[in-house]
Amino acid sequence: MGSPSSLLFLTFAFVLSSVSSTSSIPNPELFTQCLEANSQNPIPFSTTFFTPKHNASFTSVLESTAQNLRYLMPSMPKPAFIFTPLEDSHVQAAVICANKLKIHLRVRSGGHDYEGLSFVSLIEQPFMIIDLAKLRAIQVNIAHNTAWVEVGATIGEVYYRISEKSPVHAFPAGNCPSIGVGGHITGGGYGSLHRKYGLAADNIIDARIVDANGNILDRKAMGEDLFWAIRGGGGGSFGIILSWQIKLVHVPPLVTIFTIKKTLEQNANKILHKWQQVAPNIDEDLFFLVEIRGVNSSTPGKRTVQTSYVGRYLGTADRLLQLMTEKFPELGLTNKDCLQTSWIKSVPYIYGFPNTTSPEILIQRTISNKVFMKNKADYIRLVIPEIALNSIWKRFMQIDEPLMIWVPYGGMMSRISESALPYPHRKGVLFKLLYVSQWNDGEKSMEKYMNWVRRFYNFMTPYASRFPREAYLNYRDLDLGMNQFNRTSFLSSSTWGFKYFKDNFIRLVKVKYEVDPSNLFRHEQSIPPLPLESNKD
Ligand SMILES: Cc1cc2nc3c(=O)[nH]c(=O)nc-3n(C[C@H](O)[C@H](O)[C@H](O)COP(=O)(O)OP(=O)(O)OC[C@H]3O[C@@H](n4cnc5c(N)ncnc54)[C@H](O)[C@@H]3O)c2cc1C
Ligand SMILES: *[C@@H]1O[C@H](CO)[C@@H](O)[C@H](O)[C@H]1NC(C)=O
Ligand SMILES: *[C@@H]1O[C@H](CO)[C@@H](O)[C@H](O)[C@H]1NC(C)=O
Ligand SMILES: *[C@@H]1O[C@H](CO)[C@@H](O)[C@H](O)[C@H]1NC(C)=O
Ligand SMILES: *[C@@H]1O[C@H](CO)[C@@H](O)[C@H](O)[C@H]1NC(C)=O
Repeated sequence: MGSPSSLLFLTFAFVLSSVSSTSSIPNPELFTQCLEANSQNPIPFSTTFFTPKHNASFTSVLESTAQNLRYLMPSMPKPAFIFTPLEDSHVQAAVICANKLKIHLRVRSGGHDYEGLSFVSLIEQPFMIIDLAKLRAIQVNIAHNTAWVEVGATIGEVYYRISEKSPVHAFPAGNCPSIGVGGHITGGGYGSLHRKYGLAADNIIDARIVDANGNILDRKAMGEDLFWAIRGGGGGSFGIILSWQIKLVHVPPLVTIFTIKKTLEQNANKILHKWQQVAPNIDEDLFFLVEIRGVNSSTPGKRTVQTSYVGRYLGTADRLLQLMTEKFPELGLTNKDCLQTSWIKSVPYIYGFPNTTSPEILIQRTISNKVFMKNKADYIRLVIPEIALNSIWKRFMQIDEPLMIWVPYGGMMSRISESALPYPHRKGVLFKLLYVSQWNDGEKSMEKYMNWVRRFYNFMTPYASRFPREAYLNYRDLDLGMNQFNRTSFLSSSTWGFKYFKDNFIRLVKVKYEVDPSNLFRHEQSIPPLPLESNKD
């Protein structure tokens, strides 16, 4: 881990580069004229182009997939216009015209970015949005174990369309069905199959991307460096991804799902301590995470901590019970806690729906409750001692409805090298810890919830990974730093860059400089284009 020397090197390099980004006030008419002139096929603007002044539907389109309500508050900057391409050539034209007319652009697939970067720019106004929600075709090829999926599809649609063709094929990606395939896969994409098959990004065969010049490149045309960078290096830095070719994986016809809940009065601490050692090391057919909440206890007026173990075993209940009896009898799993079902029916359950939920819910595109949120995350590499848990609960319970989710790693995740893809959090990670802070009444409670999660995150420092304190790009967190597109910008990027990517950050910077030296694709945490020497060591 050569982070200190790499950091020095970046400090040096940023002096050499100069950035300038001057966006003129965008004129919608000039933009649509430019689109028409540069698109291979005609563009029906009456279904694809929205300005706040001319189109009543502007607000509903802006809000459509925006997941974090904090970034829809009136105080947040709004785009000058939104373009929703219907085909690839429209995306090419949009890139060419954004470049030509110097309009800062944001790209949105599923709108689930934690910090709203796909539809809000905090650092540059005016800006526009290219919203890819209408590019959402899914073509499944069971004979070849592959599928082509367009970026505007949700991951739930991908799961569902695969299951329509085969009950024993699946794709390892996120648990939340409404996340977009565009941002999700390019940021990594973990889920309930990652212990068995790795990340979504680990299971990509090919991709099509529109580069800064408006050309469409597939894997062969883009080359292995860029193909590496877009599988984990994150959206909005390298180009606009149009579609992914994904590799399907095998699941058995019957899987087993279960939930076990334990409160402090039911020995939660001892069991959670053991979980940290068992869950990352057990048979990789088993994935079971822990949701930790503050709840009312059975003693009136008293609160307690509730740990819920929610899991899926890729096999029958008999085998799961054998495994648990041998490895984790303390959890007390019994036959009546287990439900055998198909893989596709287990998907809504793992995300938190009742066990009777029909898989059709996966194609409803908007199924997550929209809330105001500020989440943060950690990677844990050392078991948190049992005696530390009570002091953690004390801080945890300082808000009405506290929530944490502990997601086990290990298995395939430990067998893929740290530099295979930009996503570096592999061997040695026991689990990922997500701090969830959500509220419903907007500005009113915002400070309270933001402060709680920030303070709790600081409190957890001794238990988190360090040098760097690792962070997950798809759980984007602007507290880690922001680009500023002036002389200080590249210095700040190295602080969050190493947290998200460890030393892969250096290679990402090099790729960025090769493919987008003028920094057309940029945002608060995009990869900076620096002319790094290749012989830095
Ligand atoms: C409720 C919820 C649950 C989640 N659950 C999981 C989970 O189980 N596992 C997991 O790994 N993550 C999870 N995430 C995080 C999720 O993976 C990221 O937010 C991801 O970036 C979402 O992709 P998107 O297309 O929906 O987001 P968007 O907001 O559309 O985009 C995210 C980023 O990628 C860029 N981008 C979008 N599309 C493209 C494109 N086509 N080409 C280039 N850049 C693009 C955007 O500009 C933005 O910077 C969850 C998030 C939420 C809100
Ligand atoms: C939005 O308004 C512009 C300008 O009047 C128009 O050209 C376009 O068709 C409108 N778009 C929609 C979706 O109605
Ligand atoms: C928990 O208890 C408080 C007061 O004791 C009460 O107001 C609240 O509704 C209870 N919550 C639940 C989920 O029962
Ligand atoms: C399925 O859900 C129902 C309703 O919540 C519950 O009563 C039942 O115990 C659950 N079954 C299993 C096996 O978890
Ligand atoms: C860079 O920009 C930020 C805001 O975008 C500003 O706060 C800061 O002072 C600027 N720094 C310099 C050196 O201009």
